[in-house]
Amino acid sequence: MKRTKIIDVLKSTEYGKEVCVKGWVRTHRSSKAVDFIALNDGSTIKNVQIVVDPTKFDEQVLKDITTGACISAEGTLVESQGAGQSSEIQATKLEVYGLCGNDYPMQKKGQSFEVMRKNAHMRLRTNTFGAVMRIRHNMAMAIHTYFHEHGFFYFHTPLITASDCEGAGNMFQVTTKNLYDLKKDENGKIIYDDDFFGEQTSLTVSGQLEGELGATALGSIYTFGPTFRAENSNTPRHLAEFWMVEPEVAFLDQEELMDLEEDFIKYCVRWALDNCKDDLEFLNKMIDKTLIERLEGVLKETFVRLPYTEGINILQEAIKNGKKFEFPCNWGDDLASEHERYLVEEHFKKPVIMTDYPRAFKSFYMKQNQDTADGGSVGYKGAVAPGPTMQGTDVLFPQIGEIIGGSVREESYDKLMGEINRREMDQTHLWWYIDTRKWGSCPHAGFGLGFERLILFVTGMQNIRDVIPFPRTPKSAEF
Ligand code: 4AD
Ligand code: MG
Repeated sequence: MKRTKIIDVLKSTEYGKEVCVKGWVRTHRSSKAVDFIALNDGSTIKNVQIVVDPTKFDEQVLKDITTGACISAEGTLVESQGAGQSSEIQATKLEVYGLCGNDYPMQKKGQSFEVMRKNAHMRLRTNTFGAVMRIRHNMAMAIHTYFHEHGFFYFHTPLITASDCEGAGNMFQVTTKNLYDLKKDENGKIIYDDDFFGEQTSLTVSGQLEGELGATALGSIYTFGPTFRAENSNTPRHLAEFWMVEPEVAFLDQEELMDLEEDFIKYCVRWALDNCKDDLEFLNKMIDKTLIERLEGVLKETFVRLPYTEGINILQEAIKNGKKFEFPCNWGDDLASEHERYLVEEHFKKPVIMTDYPRAFKSFYMKQNQDTADGGSVGYKGAVAPGPTMQGTDVLFPQIGEIIGGSVREESYDKLMGEINRREMDQTHLWWYIDTRKWGSCPHAGFGLGFERLILFVTGMQNIRDVIPFPRTPKSAEF
């Protein structure tokens, strides 16, 4: 008999109809008169209840139906007598596909996420990970739908590259080896061949530079793919392999870039509220009691648009009033997450789009603000800064910190080259990027949203390792 997904069985009111469901047993309660099997197939957080008359089934089959076992069940769809569920199945046929013994690591309820991480191959079968993965899928759909509806083209940028977009040097190098013909040195050490491409290549940290080529030809593009960073940051917000969404738009200015960032995030959050109701309710109950309230709250807020210099003034004022921070935050310092959190969670109590950062710690490609005669600069809405600034526009979020990093791009050939030279950057692998400023250069802007950081916010999960199926972090790439 053809299988029906449990999500559809639970919606159906065709009582009396024969159905077949297949999935993994969540619980099996038995008594003399009746057995109840809660079955889940991953299509929804909800289980279907299978009601079994034990006298009609082989005793061994019923014994084999333990938590975690994989079974097929056929029976009659009936209206449920139990509270909180609409339909259930009166079993007529049960088949066990896969037994599951007591050593099943996901058997116990309420396991810590740390223990579950060690069982990344099995944790996907738990309610929490099922919910997170369905939401992750939905967020990917939200992203594609948003950009498609707004006339952006999905643009594929390479994962293997010879350029370093962020200039931070934290890239994974690409080498080759033929497993069947390993070259070894005299000490028996494997010699890796890193000349496959005729030059040294790495895994990309961002698709932005190639994305700019797309935007300056197609108008509006977005990338959505894996990016790699060999930063040794063991934090709940960093992965060595994470997914990034990078829209890039021709003729977009600083204000319009902020509009796009805000509108896009709100669209994704609204999508989750509209399309992931059951999973969000589960997470709201089990993980974070204020989750749905926070998601709804973000939709009502107008994000604060704040020049970095004003942000520093607010932090300095807080210090004067007794606030203690671990790290300094004088003008020119890169903000630590404690500073970002203070601004977002304590001072404004809503998301902040921070802009006009000091040139010293931002990337070479950002649009430079107008310098003043005394060494300062003029930025967003005429705000004056004491040093040179660039039109970076990062979105800082409650609980998360930086969820988006973006900027208006420097379109002037002379200014861009001035910055590249000032930083003494190697231009060998940037010639094609520089060409965009030579021929038909145009104002443009874009940003990168850390997909997993969005998922963290939308699910209320606390650790980025728990919102991607197979996290890659320092010393951990097993699954
Ligand atoms: O701020 P970042 O480094 O910006 C860029 O890479 C730009 N080229 C993007 C652009 O303008 N097209 O990274 C963008 C975002 C961050 O705001 C953060 O959300 C996420 O990517 N991110 C990480 N997420 C998980 N693990 C890491 N190690 C991350 N590093 C950055
Ligand atoms: Mg950043």
